[in-house]
Amino acid sequence: MVTKKWKVDKFVDNLKSYPQIREAASLLKANEVVAFPTETVYGLGGNALSDEAIKKIYEAKGRPSDNPLIVHVSSVKQLDDLCSGLNEQAEELIKAFWPGPLTLILPSTGHVSEKVTAGLSTVAIRMPEDPIAKAVIEASGLPIAAPSANLSGRPSPTTAAHVLRDLDGRVAGVIDGGETGVGVESTVVDCTSKPITILRPGGITKEQLEAVIGEVGEDPALTGQDKAPKSPGMKYRHYAPAAPVYIVHGGMERIKEVLQQANNENKKTGVLTTDENKDGYPEADFVVACGRRSVPESVAHHLYQALREFDDTDVEIIFSESFPNEGIGAAIMNRLTKAAGGREL
Ligand code: TXA
Ligand code: MG
Repeated sequence: MVTKKWKVDKFVDNLKSYPQIREAASLLKANEVVAFPTETVYGLGGNALSDEAIKKIYEAKGRPSDNPLIVHVSSVKQLDDLCSGLNEQAEELIKAFWPGPLTLILPSTGHVSEKVTAGLSTVAIRMPEDPIAKAVIEASGLPIAAPSANLSGRPSPTTAAHVLRDLDGRVAGVIDGGETGVGVESTVVDCTSKPITILRPGGITKEQLEAVIGEVGEDPALTGQDKAPKSPGMKYRHYAPAAPVYIVHGGMERIKEVLQQANNENKKTGVLTTDENKDGYPEADFVVACGRRSVPESVAHHLYQALREFDDTDVEIIFSESFPNEGIGAAIMNRLTKAAGGREL
């Protein structure tokens, strides 16, 4: 199939009446799938009420069908049809963080396609903040299911070029709205548990959630306990460049040691570092700096772009610095650990 490409300036007034947005919305209404930017990463949208559309999302991504999708809305009113009851804490979270990078797991009314929820009795819902995402959802008049717009297993896309690299020819259209802001996906919280539990760390931090609703739990699978994660997507290796990634603890000195070992074995080496340290690894073949260590939000913003850059090189092994596991650092370390498939040194 020929993938339509639209370039849209997200800062104009009344986006939803723009011809590109209207064309994308009509394709969604016709149960085609279209990629668009959100404030976290690009999403691959489809009509959440249609089995046909959802099947196309899974096929385009090569995604396992037991991994449910997040439904995106543009108004709180849409929840009436999608979820059967909000508790007080969920309401507080919505007031504080929507639109924004927070996904709530809520009891489902069963109105969305059962392929969206992969047979679960709950549904994941979020209201994105990006003006283009909002406009497309509003113009379509539908709840829009949207996983990240990458081939399953690859790093999530933060530019339209990343989306096209993975999905050109496999989807009906891609809206190019520039680089996304946050850079890592939304935080997923289970609002059906007491206390409310984080299933996937992301754009909204645990600290931010706790400031609004008090105690927040974490899925034990996140803290390294050997349990099946409650969020099915979290069990897969993800966000991974082609070469194996190792997270190295012990700072630059330790990375220089393991680089030396790899060089002795004649391996082409890559290092994932930060602006502050990027000149410190002359023995590596390829060095990528992802943001400033002193500004962890900038690391989140550049992380997937940085992971993808290794795929344009011939490196055979990648060593990554590690980051403090707090604030947005929890999301950074979660994604890096997935990219590394758990390999640490
Ligand atoms: O920022 C984001 O959340 C992006 C943008 C496009 O909105 N979307 C995204 O979707 O990251 P995806 O499909 O890549 O990740 C969805 C995650 C998966 O880990 C999935 O297992 C989990 O949400 N999930 C969806 N429905 C669930 C449910 N009912 N119960 C538990 N986890 C669920
Ligand atoms: Mg994803």
